[in-house]
Amino acid sequence: MPENGVSGLLEKNKTKAIAVVGAQWGDEGKGKVVDFMASSFDYVARYAGGHNAGHTVIFNRHRYVLQLIPSGILRPEKRAVIGPGTVVDPAALVAELENLKKSGIEVRGRLFLSNRAHLIFPYHREMDRAAESARGEAKIGTTSRGIGPAYEDKMARRGIRVSELLEPQRFEEKLARVVAEKNAISSAAYGHPLETAGLLEQYLELAAHIRGLVADTAVLLNDALDQGQSVLVEGAQGTMLDIDHGTYPYVTSSSATSGGAATGLGIPPTRIVGVVGVTKAYTTRVGSGPFPTEMPDLDAKEVRERGNEFGAVTGRPRRCGWLDLAVLRYAKMLNGIDSLVVTKLDVFDEQAEIKICTGYLHKGQKLHEIPPDVETLSQVEPEYRTLPGWKKPTQGIRDVKELPTAARDYLNFISDQLQVEIGMISTGPERDATIIPRGTKLASWL
Ligand code: GDP
Ligand code: IMO
Ligand code: MG
Repeated sequence: MPENGVSGLLEKNKTKAIAVVGAQWGDEGKGKVVDFMASSFDYVARYAGGHNAGHTVIFNRHRYVLQLIPSGILRPEKRAVIGPGTVVDPAALVAELENLKKSGIEVRGRLFLSNRAHLIFPYHREMDRAAESARGEAKIGTTSRGIGPAYEDKMARRGIRVSELLEPQRFEEKLARVVAEKNAISSAAYGHPLETAGLLEQYLELAAHIRGLVADTAVLLNDALDQGQSVLVEGAQGTMLDIDHGTYPYVTSSSATSGGAATGLGIPPTRIVGVVGVTKAYTTRVGSGPFPTEMPDLDAKEVRERGNEFGAVTGRPRRCGWLDLAVLRYAKMLNGIDSLVVTKLDVFDEQAEIKICTGYLHKGQKLHEIPPDVETLSQVEPEYRTLPGWKKPTQGIRDVKELPTAARDYLNFISDQLQVEIGMISTGPERDATIIPRGTKLASWL
């Protein structure tokens, strides 16, 4: 038995990796939640997606929108990781770094980019746009950031990774090979070759800016966990946008659910000891695809305006609907959600009545599962319960006891139906407009 065997074990038990995931179709307020929780963790790590994400954090009257860099970077002493499961557009990353610098946020020495993350190239964006226009009416409504085509190349085993960007000679050869292949495809499919002039020089120039960030982030995170440091995992997108479990094909191209955190970071699933699911008090979705609880235009317009529901990245108006417990129940199961965060409660402050979907009917029959095909999901009829609104301001409330009774009833209804605790309630976009009820699992992780 090694001398410090037992105490070493105890120390390990204290270390934690907790994942924060979107329980709906993205934009649930993950950025705000991660920023809040980050104060209790050593590392914050992104595991999937790219700059299709837009995570908003507001404090000291300043609004930050993070796309690829984890929200934890805004806390001066924290370390942030962009993991191997992400796709990285170096131009977008450098622009994001410059924006942070302008706001006085220094990242050197505490931001780490995985050497295994795949690169997004301008031809991925071109292909994203071309594929969308070819789909016509059936378009997905992507963010046009090249996310799908970059993950396609990764899975087809012809992607180019961050580590290769750092070796100019190898990068040049590989890029030439990939571009020749892409040009053949583009010429056949769209009648013209790709725009690739100056690409090599541009990427080598970008490489100089990111070289200092590159690391084996799986080693970094596992070492940190072994040494008793804690990791907050920042999900991007949401459960219903997950490539396997979402409303396929109206999804993104990565594993947004908590399972993706283990592969997307290279930490064992057994090290993730808790999962936080984030939901709005209602539902939104950007882009196309089925949305059973979508509100009629006028109601949606009101919620959109009160909730400022316009994309953080693309500025697109978000589609708005009632809270969907069928979706949240599924999200709880898929992610193993231990604690639910409800954001944007204040958006309902003037609502007279609030509808909440408890399940679906299809052709008059109760559905016990979310149908796998979008055709059936578009035909389901939500079953609603109507709860009274509170018609009182909740904005900025920080103590659960100060919430109006009807607001507490609404939250209790959600918690009872899903059989999950509510570990955090957000009552405004600012960092401190947050309630942490006592005695929850989430409270014990902070
Ligand atoms: P994310 O992608 O999940 O990080 O979410 P986004 O940042 O894309 O969208 C959430 C939006 O809601 C942002 O504009 C936030 O500033 C805002 N927000 C977050 N929590 C609250 C809240 O409790 N109340 C209100 N009114 N806005 C919130
Ligand atoms: P965050 O992390 C909301 C949606 C797009 C589109 C679909 C596919 O801010 O919650 P993509 O460009 O990924 O191929 O687009 O996925 N989408 C998001 N919607 N929030 C996001 O991220 C999203 N990331 C992608 O609107 O419908
Ligand atoms: Mg967002």
